[in-house]
Amino acid sequence: MPNDLSAKKLFFGKVTGVEKKDDAFWKKLYKQSEERISSLEKEVPFYQEEPVKVLEEDGYTRRDFMKWVSATTAMLMLPGFFEPLVARTIQVLNRVPVIWINLQDCAGNSEALLRADGPTVDELILDIITLEFHELLMTASGEHAERQLEDAMTTFKGEYLLFVEGSIPTAANGIYGTIGTSGETYVDHLKRLAADAKAVVAVGTCATFGGVPAAAPNPTGATGVMSLVQNKPVVNIPACPANPANMLGVILLYAMTGELPELDGLLRPKFAFGQRIHDACERRVHFDAGEYVEEWGDAAAQAGHCLYKMGCKGPMTFNNCPTVKYNRGTSWPVAAGHGCIGCSEPGFFDKFDRFEAPTPYNPSYNPASDFQIAAGLGLATAASALANSTPTQEEDHGN
Ligand code: SF4
Ligand code: F3S
Repeated sequence: MPNDLSAKKLFFGKVTGVEKKDDAFWKKLYKQSEERISSLEKEVPFYQEEPVKVLEEDGYTRRDFMKWVSATTAMLMLPGFFEPLVARTIQVLNRVPVIWINLQDCAGNSEALLRADGPTVDELILDIITLEFHELLMTASGEHAERQLEDAMTTFKGEYLLFVEGSIPTAANGIYGTIGTSGETYVDHLKRLAADAKAVVAVGTCATFGGVPAAAPNPTGATGVMSLVQNKPVVNIPACPANPANMLGVILLYAMTGELPELDGLLRPKFAFGQRIHDACERRVHFDAGEYVEEWGDAAAQAGHCLYKMGCKGPMTFNNCPTVKYNRGTSWPVAAGHGCIGCSEPGFFDKFDRFEAPTPYNPSYNPASDFQIAAGLGLATAASALANSTPTQEEDHGN
């Protein structure tokens, strides 16, 4: 049975947020990051291009780059004095191998990555990040692509980050999703690739919680990565699509510290999912003042009032959309005037009865706090927490 994070017991709990760290924590992390970056700097890059040079060749100035570094450091909830380390990390991103696989998906997350803001689109993907395999972006296909994947797995065994896009069909022994001439099911494919990975990053709501393919009646038995991958650190970056800034943030933190970011109870990075959309929303002042849009296009809509009565799920959704935004930071759903539909929440698509009907307001709502797994920064922490929580995951997923 697929994961069922829409179970009612996960719906209510106290807001966890991001715990404040003391000076000793930051000093330790700084030293650890310096050592990690220094050791990566000594390694031979998989590609010879110097990332910052590539950016400069594309018309980006040193000032543009430092502005991006500054914004990214803040987004990752690191103190300002980490900025030089973030800048140095960009230079060593070409030492971190990434394998990206597409399963039961629409490729919307890859599409979002192609439009990623930051040091530029193509550079980030093809030059800075060592994307060893991405069947959607690479030119090889068929047997050649399969060989490329096997080569990447062998060369970077135990070192690569496995990014997974799309849910995994489990019904009928996984027959709804197979790969290549061998007919390997998505379930087996995922497990095989995860076994040799350093960590697995589930990207998008389908890969994290099952998403749209898992909506009732879920004929393919679609489920998320964490219900199938055990004994391996898993990071969830939900949303439809996942924000490229959050994907890059996970890679950057891993490259810089050698560890995964601090996760919440649903294995989501706290830097991205530690706050309710409602608490950072630009329309919040209107919610507090009781000023609501009552009908599409009414005077309140034109004045930018709160969309709660039009079904906005911002009070029940944890994500950094209001601050990071999409499309080069220009907009996000609430700014565009529709309201949040909770696309990054477990149980999406079925969870909220109707997108345009108000959902009962519960200011202490947080599904993650009832599903607490990982706290503290570190692969080891995440790994042991995952190992310890395996029975809970299985119980909660009904597997
Ligand atoms: Fe913003 Fe939606 Fe909350 Fe209103 S209900 S303040 S539109 S997040
Ligand atoms: Fe999704 Fe809501 Fe953000 S619909 S993209 S979580 S504003």
